[in-house]
Amino acid sequence: MSRALQENPKPQRLMELLDEATKESAAVKSLHELRELKSRFLGKKGELSRLLASLKDLQPEAKKDFGAKLNETRRALENLFQVAESRLESEALEKQLRESDLDASAPGVFFPPAQPHPIREVMEEAISILERAGLQAIYGPEVEFEDYCFDRLNFQKDHAARDMQATFFVKSAGDRSLILRTHTSPVQVRALLKLAKAEKRLPIRIQAPGRVYRVDDDATHAPMFHQIEGLVVDTQSGMPELRATLDYFFRKFFGEKTKIRFRPSYFPFTEPSAEVDASCVFCQGLGCKVCKQSGWLELAGAGLVHPNVFQACGWNPEEVQGWAFGMGIERLAMLKLKIPDLRSFFENRLSFLRGRVR
Ligand code: PHE
Repeated sequence: MSRALQENPKPQRLMELLDEATKESAAVKSLHELRELKSRFLGKKGELSRLLASLKDLQPEAKKDFGAKLNETRRALENLFQVAESRLESEALEKQLRESDLDASAPGVFFPPAQPHPIREVMEEAISILERAGLQAIYGPEVEFEDYCFDRLNFQKDHAARDMQATFFVKSAGDRSLILRTHTSPVQVRALLKLAKAEKRLPIRIQAPGRVYRVDDDATHAPMFHQIEGLVVDTQSGMPELRATLDYFFRKFFGEKTKIRFRPSYFPFTEPSAEVDASCVFCQGLGCKVCKQSGWLELAGAGLVHPNVFQACGWNPEEVQGWAFGMGIERLAMLKLKIPDLRSFFENRLSFLRGRVR
């Protein structure tokens, strides 16, 4: 055969091959048959390979010419078998669909889009309102020095105030002891310590959102919860600005009709100190079950930064004034989203997280 081709390569034969393959590939019934067909036409022992091997016996001109034709034929055959394979696959799929119980016309399963956890949502809103009041958000660690959480905030060593916040202890190491922070106020200490040495120190206008931990667990207390803290320090900055800022915050958060009031209170790190109430968001101050008929909801602690705190953090209390406040995010969220039980925030029921059951 190769002798014959030497003088006379047969382009005609290639056409015939292609014709045969076209007919046969249109008739194959299975992938198995197709595989056999492929190897018959394209395999090592196939006719195309034999023709390819015979190329070496041709004159250069004829070799180039016939070689090109061979390549063309190979590509056409490959194409043909590819088409046949797709046909077989879709036939198989159709058969499978026909024979199974699958109802391809049934409506799809709806996956609701993800959405932020309600605590995250409320936290973001609180942060954004305080940003508009000019407080820049900063973050401190949740595992904190006991010293920053209590001592430098003017909690006396054996003072009962320490028991106000039942503490998780992490590592006992003298004045470097570590605890889980019980409030976000140690971020005040961190900011003051850092800026005491800075070149341009004033004003300080920060907020500190984050997780806090206390040994506590019932319908209104969780061992982990969230707070947001505000701190402003300047040469002159006091009660009027504190009050105006909280007034702005609660109006933006609960609605323009919201009023606030300050009641005298005690925190070791502020003097004077106040509990901040907002008019009840359920009854607009008329009195209801939620506010226990008082018309007011207790929502924040606040006050003027205690001179001892300035001193403990490297500042001269004669030269600066400041104010601070702190509040619990869960409480804000419960009131805003009308969630009766604090524990629903941590149970992660999908119906709750998707906002269907509150
Ligand atoms: N840290 C206080 C608490 O957790 C709240 C507070 C912050 C009070 C700042 C006054 C000033 O209860």
